[in-house]
Amino acid sequence: MKHLLSTRDVSRDEAIQLLDIAEDMSTVNEREVKKLPALRGKTVVNLFFEDSTRTRISFEAAEKRLSADVINFAAKGSSVSKGESLKDTTQTLAAMGIDAVVIRHGASGAPQVLAQSGWIDAPVINAGDGTHEHPTQALLDAFTMRKRLHGAASRGKGLDGVKVTFVGDILHSRVARSNVWLLQTLGAQVQLVAPPTLLPHAVDTWPVSVSYDLDEAIAQNKPDVVMMLRIQQERMHDAFFPNEREYSNMWGLTQERFFSLPAKTMVMHPGPMNRGLEISSLAADSPQSTVLEQVANGVSVRMAALYMVLTGEREVTHD
Ligand code: CP
Repeated sequence: MKHLLSTRDVSRDEAIQLLDIAEDMSTVNEREVKKLPALRGKTVVNLFFEDSTRTRISFEAAEKRLSADVINFAAKGSSVSKGESLKDTTQTLAAMGIDAVVIRHGASGAPQVLAQSGWIDAPVINAGDGTHEHPTQALLDAFTMRKRLHGAASRGKGLDGVKVTFVGDILHSRVARSNVWLLQTLGAQVQLVAPPTLLPHAVDTWPVSVSYDLDEAIAQNKPDVVMMLRIQQERMHDAFFPNEREYSNMWGLTQERFFSLPAKTMVMHPGPMNRGLEISSLAADSPQSTVLEQVANGVSVRMAALYMVLTGEREVTHD
């Protein structure tokens, strides 16, 4: 794996290897000694052109736990405000010596351009690009599902037959896109539930079933997992959005709807959450919720992604 740009490029074997390496990394994270020497002497630059809390900080934690040197770049406060291009920004940082780039960008396709342009000669990991993809989020989501479903017996397993329902703003969701491809690869059955105006036209070509009615979807599908997606108000200029009360009543995981879920259904959300809009606090804070597990698992999964991309190894060797 030279780069990690899209879950479409990840084979089932690669995905399961990465999830298994993340299992090893989570054991490291839970032990008293929280560092591995695997990336000692390597420098990773985190290039964030868009805001982030979870992804940016968990990449930084992952890099430090693998003993890498870390350079953090935020577009805000940089020479991007003077008009400096992506090419000149990355080449400037590369001139200081870097071994890998983690990039979040508001433009769909920016990580692919960086990886394929020849501007720099370093592996690129996509930390979320526009409405396109967020591969490490999908991997941490799959890791979380696998761990809850299979516990200590997770290693080597996919998600065959697991029923996963995504609800909400699919149109703008890079999380949904990366999850659709990865979950298909891992054998899960994916259902999308959304108002018609928050579904992309291309959904007809995706390996999913579609419903507009959340109550019917829950009653008929009895999902193993419901993933509530954030309403992306900042990208809503190109789509019709019902008012918040109407949206919450029809597509939100309200208290009443939460109680209609099977007791074993996992409630997921990639964060940040709009409490009271797409998800009620009762659901978000319930024992069925994996919201904080997803965040914790994100560090292990990003350690695994960095490890595979920077060392080319397919398993962790313990000293
Ligand atoms: N889930 C996610 O990508 O969150 P951040 O935007 O906080 O990184």
